[in-house]
Amino acid sequence: MTARTGGHSSFARQAAARPDGTIGQMQVNLEESWSLGGVEIPSRLVLAPMAGVSVQAFRRQGRRYGAGLVCSEMVSVAGIQHGNERTLGYLRVASDEHPLAIQIFGSDPRAMGEAARAVEAAGADVVDINFGCPVRKVTKTGAGASVLDDPDHAARLVSAVAGAVDLPVSVKMRRGTADGSRDCLTVGPRLVEAGAAALTLHPRSAKQMYTGFADHSLTAELVSLVDVPVIASGDVTSRARAQAVLATTGAAAVMVGRAAQGNPWALREIMGDSCQPSREEVVAELVLFMRETVRELGEHRATGFLKKFYAWYLGHGRFPKPFKQELVMLPTIEQVELRLLAAAPGALRLLERLEDDLGPVDEVLLDSLPISIYGGG
Ligand SMILES: Cc1cc2nc3c(=O)[nH]c(=O)nc-3n(C[C@H](O)[C@H](O)[C@H](O)COP(=O)(O)O)c2cc1C
Repeated sequence: MTARTGGHSSFARQAAARPDGTIGQMQVNLEESWSLGGVEIPSRLVLAPMAGVSVQAFRRQGRRYGAGLVCSEMVSVAGIQHGNERTLGYLRVASDEHPLAIQIFGSDPRAMGEAARAVEAAGADVVDINFGCPVRKVTKTGAGASVLDDPDHAARLVSAVAGAVDLPVSVKMRRGTADGSRDCLTVGPRLVEAGAAALTLHPRSAKQMYTGFADHSLTAELVSLVDVPVIASGDVTSRARAQAVLATTGAAAVMVGRAAQGNPWALREIMGDSCQPSREEVVAELVLFMRETVRELGEHRATGFLKKFYAWYLGHGRFPKPFKQELVMLPTIEQVELRLLAAAPGALRLLERLEDDLGPVDEVLLDSLPISIYGGG
């Protein structure tokens, strides 16, 4: 892949083509498929990688609600290299979550290449590299967003990964490390030259963490500089916002993170179905999510992991606050499930239907999986 400076990617052309110039209001078809380095992505909606959130249950649900591509959370290359059992747990792929990207982070080219081979062997469709994590624990090791300060090294890392696997390689990055940085515009084309088949831009600085707003004018500039698909990440919370970001940036897809936490209906709304879920639907999806998470993480890990999801699912005015507080206090997942089903008795029938539709799931149990509590990008 080569970078170029013309700004004529097919998506940019499409965005610019509107005769009256009101590209912000252009209706973009989110159901259009696109290609990420030869992997067909069936919609222009991507579910964001989120540490401590993007378990299999979250990814599989995302696929059911319209995401064309789902991503694992960031996986430590050092952990893969040392055969850390916990880290290897992140590489488990369920048969019904494809296409799936597994994201790795590290700072040593050779170790990155080896980790990418492990990702390929695990059955992922795309290897994603994290150049976005702003957390000091990661940046101080020379990984995550700090790589953006050294474009030569960033290119070496991408080249090592692209040279190690047949899978397409994508990179997810911030705008730069410092506030106001435009480094993504110089680093991005270098990464494409080094072999990246797609770029995701979260146009906040690492210093900003999650404050302020994502400046998607940078996404538009990046689209004009590279001839690979660009995925726009940051503050996409509704169909209107998704349409506007796609139309004004020429990005191939939008990525949705926080809006989808405990709220797959946000993905459904973005894809064009604005029906609000009934209480029964919410409870059925939550209980399904709980059961899948227990199967994936084991009862012990799942108990703590799920607590934040109760508030996420039951918020949005769906259930009163005291009810959420009551659930968080219950000592076992079984008790939470009973309480939820008592609050919305019709949910059981929906749940059974959902489980029937899903069929048997791949059996995995990862009781030792570490649950990160920080945001990785
Ligand atoms: C809890 C949390 C964990 C995250 N973990 C990761 C991660 O592991 N890898 C990554 O590239 N980005 C990570 N991110 C960043 C998101 O992928 C996304 O770029 C960011 O949240 C902006 O999108 P949003 O406004 O749709 O949430 C994380 C974000 C949050 C909130």
